[in-house]
Amino acid sequence: ASTSATSVSISGDIASQLHGGYSHPLARTWQAERQLTKSMLILPLFITDNDDEETLIPSLPGQYRRGINKVVPFLEPLIRKGLRSVILFGVPLGQGVKDALGTAADDPKGPVMSTIRLLRQRFPQLFLVADVCLCEYTSHGHCGILRDDGGLNNELSVDRISDVAIAYAQAGCHCVAPSDMNDGRIRAIKLKLIEAGISHKTVLMSYAAKFSGCLYGPFRDAAGSVPSFGDRKCYQLPPGGRGLARRAIERDIAEGADIIMVKPASQFLDIISDAKDIGRNMPVAAYQVSGEFAMIHAGAKAGVFDLKTMAFEATEGILRAGATIVVSYFTADFLDWLES
Ligand code: PBG
Ligand code: ZN
Repeated sequence: ASTSATSVSISGDIASQLHGGYSHPLARTWQAERQLTKSMLILPLFITDNDDEETLIPSLPGQYRRGINKVVPFLEPLIRKGLRSVILFGVPLGQGVKDALGTAADDPKGPVMSTIRLLRQRFPQLFLVADVCLCEYTSHGHCGILRDDGGLNNELSVDRISDVAIAYAQAGCHCVAPSDMNDGRIRAIKLKLIEAGISHKTVLMSYAAKFSGCLYGPFRDAAGSVPSFGDRKCYQLPPGGRGLARRAIERDIAEGADIIMVKPASQFLDIISDAKDIGRNMPVAAYQVSGEFAMIHAGAKAGVFDLKTMAFEATEGILRAGATIVVSYFTADFLDWLES
């Protein structure tokens, strides 16, 4: 019998030989089911009612709160580099703007409404998403209208939030994304979009599985939306609640969501995978939230790892779990780091 290397490997276990399949950089990229591309990324923008403001947000490295006059000059170079989409968050700073009903959310002269109109006109090819919630606009900082006992009044909240969503869609944003977590808001928004005759041209992206926890801290600093009392645990999902998240995802699909989102992302990869399983016929989005971004920056600054390498590892993990849309504060960096 021959003892050559060839015959040894042929008579041995061929399935054990994996190295060849990823021996080349291109072959390594082929091992991924999904490649991160620029068109998957949505950049969060914080828009204040102070038109000329451009203020660094201390807890979110490199991220700014901007007035409407600073938005176009900021976006121009990013769009040239391949930016496809932004999500808008309003940050009212003016005296007396906030009230118990979040009236300012859909003020036609408010920062979000004005910025939607401006960006639609200035960058017709940019896909505009509007986050829909009341917490930036309510005096108490909760994501809806409250009952006397301090809990959310679900009916009034859904009614108000669906009105705000319609106002944003009518102002020209391509996608409305309710992040409030009131029960039944997807159905209410879908019905009002149909009633307004714009359901055929508006994407409804639900923050379907949004968990409570400590990862939204930098965002709440940025948006000034820390609740004045209590927390959000009675409407955002408990972190251990995988079954509950599956039910929330199923519910929002049944209510008419076009895209379902999981948030935060890296701590909830199993939920992203569940979302892809339950929503296999629709796109799944993941929000790599402010705390995840700040944590990666802190780790890089402490010398634990390289920022870019970690940003890729975290984001590719989110894709591997099943998302094909990622809301990320790294979006501007990825436009430099990615080729397409
Ligand atoms: C508003 C909203 C929040 C985020 C997105 N929409 C904050 C919250 O729920 O307190 C968090 C985003 C982030 O942390 O980057 N409801
Ligand atoms: Zn909110």
